[in-house]
Amino acid sequence: MKLITAIIRDNKLEDVREALIQAEITRITVNRVAGHGAAEDIEIYRGRQIAPALTSKVELKIACNDEFVDIVKNTIIETARTGEQGDGKIFVQNLEECIRIKNGESGSGAI
Ligand SMILES: Nc1ncnc2c1ncn2[C@@H]1O[C@H](COP(=O)(O)OP(=O)(O)O)[C@@H](O)[C@H]1O
Ligand SMILES: [Mg+2]
Repeated sequence: MKLITAIIRDNKLEDVREALIQAEITRITVNRVAGHGAAEDIEIYRGRQIAPALTSKVELKIACNDEFVDIVKNTIIETARTGEQGDGKIFVQNLEECIRIKNGESGSGAI
């Protein structure tokens, strides 16, 4: 099992959700977040670096079984990419456990 976290442009959310559903990825958590990436301008004021402005982004959390990781990644990349700075990132982590609270079922069957 993997936990996929994707940071995307907020105006790409609906397109990405639709594309994931088309790909039969129907389980998702969405957070509205703010951040900055590597290439944001770091301004210098009186010799000190000033933190760059935060940009609104959307964070997607998708827990899935290993065989779905490529389809999730590729769907997000194809749908969220503009080719411009700020398109975001995808992080993939091993997921140790998943438990369905309703009935206590655990493991990949509970995803
Ligand atoms: N290493 C990171 N850790 C956490 N969040 C990140 C990281 N890199 C990018 N982000 C998030 O992704 C958003 C878009 O980053 P982006 O400009 O596409 O990345 P970069 O400038 O590093 O190429 C940022 O505003 C931030 O919220
Ligand atoms: Mg950037």
